[in-house]
Amino acid sequence: MKIDILTLFPNMYDNFLTESIIKRAILDKKVTINIHNIRDYSKDPHKKVDDYPFGGGAGMVLMPQPIFDAVADLRKDNSYVILMTPQGNTYNQKKAYELKNKKHLIIICGHYEGFDERIRTLADLELSIGDYILTGGELASMVVTDSIVRLIDGVIETDSHLNDSFNNNLLDYPTYTRPADYNGLKVPDVLLSGHHENINKWRYEQSLKRTKERRPDLLGED
Ligand code: ADE
Repeated sequence: MKIDILTLFPNMYDNFLTESIIKRAILDKKVTINIHNIRDYSKDPHKKVDDYPFGGGAGMVLMPQPIFDAVADLRKDNSYVILMTPQGNTYNQKKAYELKNKKHLIIICGHYEGFDERIRTLADLELSIGDYILTGGELASMVVTDSIVRLIDGVIETDSHLNDSFNNNLLDYPTYTRPADYNGLKVPDVLLSGHHENINKWRYEQSLKRTKERRPDLLGED
């Protein structure tokens, strides 16, 4: 998979790309991630990328030209263009599984007070990571990229994400490690029993209980 990210703040990705699982996925060639500075595509002599909104109002608006040119430069037949915006569809794990099957993602990060409405025509999908406003789409693009890359075959053990919260619309069950008794806080006996059938049953029940208590909406019960 290849992911091209368009941003005005490429340095924000430095640590994201050079730590932990994302770093390893890149080194193992499971994914190629390129960060592109939108400003590099500006045809303005001063590399301007934003301007005042027609009709007045606060803040500056991202101009269409640099983004249209960047997408034209990067887009191939199999590309899928995502625009990060609080006005998009709310992102979730189901969407992450869908996007992991794309060969090429182009992710556009909005910034400042907004972007020219015509930029929307470039997008196959508009995504929001939640009902709050970030200063720009950069953090949101990292959230989406991270959640997709960890699902790519061979990036982490498949078992790890089969048990993830939100698979089967259930939250994950509780897990424990050594010691079996930490200052009187005990690990449930069933997990020490070695009886796999009972362990699986307990885990499923715990998942269900936790989901009912914390996220009844996932069960269609709110
Ligand atoms: N840009 C600003 N806020 C955002 C959000 N919540 N999701 C995606 N992009 C954004």
